[in-house]
Amino acid sequence: MSICLKHSRKSQDVSGTVAVVGATGAVGGIVLDEIVKQKLPYGKLKLLASERSAGTIIEVAGQPITVELLEPEAFKGVDLVIASTPDEVAAEFVPWAVERGAVVVDESAFYRMNPDVPLVIPEVNAQAASEHKGIIASPNCSTTQMVVALHPLRNAAGLRQIIVSTYQAVSGAGLAANTETIENTHKVLKGQTGQVSVFQHDIAMNLIPQIGSHKEAGFTSEEVKMVRETHKIFGDDTIAINATCVRVPVLVGHSESIYCETEQPLELDEIKRLFSEADGVTLIDDLDNQEYPMPRPCADKPDVFVGRVRKDLHHECGISFWCVSDNLRKGAATNAVQIGKLLSESVAANLSLPNN
Ligand SMILES: NC(=O)c1ccc[n+]([C@@H]2O[C@H](COP(=O)([O-])OP(=O)(O)OC[C@H]3O[C@@H](n4cnc5c(N)ncnc54)[C@H](OP(=O)(O)O)[C@@H]3O)[C@@H](O)[C@H]2O)c1
Repeated sequence: MSICLKHSRKSQDVSGTVAVVGATGAVGGIVLDEIVKQKLPYGKLKLLASERSAGTIIEVAGQPITVELLEPEAFKGVDLVIASTPDEVAAEFVPWAVERGAVVVDESAFYRMNPDVPLVIPEVNAQAASEHKGIIASPNCSTTQMVVALHPLRNAAGLRQIIVSTYQAVSGAGLAANTETIENTHKVLKGQTGQVSVFQHDIAMNLIPQIGSHKEAGFTSEEVKMVRETHKIFGDDTIAINATCVRVPVLVGHSESIYCETEQPLELDEIKRLFSEADGVTLIDDLDNQEYPMPRPCADKPDVFVGRVRKDLHHECGISFWCVSDNLRKGAATNAVQIGKLLSESVAANLSLPNN
């Protein structure tokens, strides 16, 4: 098995070593599963994390692999890195990997808006990956599912405006957030007070209309990410986007209520046809039979699910729909491994990445 990924020697075939950084985290665990499911080619797999987890043994495709410490020399001989660590960790270690010739697919927010770093969703802008200089960023989970769903509408009729309200699962804030939610739910059900450390408030039996910190003009950092990342991926900062991001006590699966205005009107049948034919989108839309996407049934699946599709009653270009996706899969690990696969396949085929 061989892959050819080194950005400094793109034409040279090498035996592929893939490193998964943050392998012990909420996203990292799913990255390992997606590497197996998507059959990402590798000769050797390295798992890296902090000193807290170094030495832990994780089984991947039936093989036990010992987690190693994240340090500069860990990237010697590594071709592809798939990384899911906090921003400040990515800021420090990604240059170590790039300097040693690896290509890094990074899930953190740290490099996403860097003009030298492509921000890639393979179904939408695979071509952008060929511009990489050693780093490719995977978008924020709430951005990814919205952009995948809107892509076929934008291709067919242009896109002027997006108004989105999110209902985001706690696992979007990492493994510690799941633990806090489960423990606090048990406590609240017993009439006790929960401990709050990950979230701003107790999320048990509650909603928190704040994800991230106050960024600007009353918007949170998560809301600003949805605006800026969508502009970058679509290559169009004229789209008017307003987001309200809300944390809900769901373990896995982000939901979004999306209203958009296209440039040209689309008929309802056409909108549903576009959704049902789009790459990575599954339409579930039968209100009479109570069929629509919901986070629990959509968990562990790689697709973006769309339903409750309606035309605006007052504006011929307005469309409302409901959108659900597993934040740890398409919102993170599935997308990153797809990028890794795209690189290995495209480099093997002389870097001719597909046009979307
Ligand atoms: N969760 C989502 O839905 C989602 C979606 C899209 C993007 N992301 C992004 O993906 C990244 C990871 O998120 P997550 O939810 O997987 O978080 P998480 O569950 O907290 O996992 C963090 C991972 O990073 C490792 N790590 C932390 N500090 C480290 C250090 N100093 N050196 C080496 N490794 C370190 C941890 O290893 P230890 O076990 O050693 O602590 C763990 O493997 C974040 O940037 C997040 O914004 C998350």
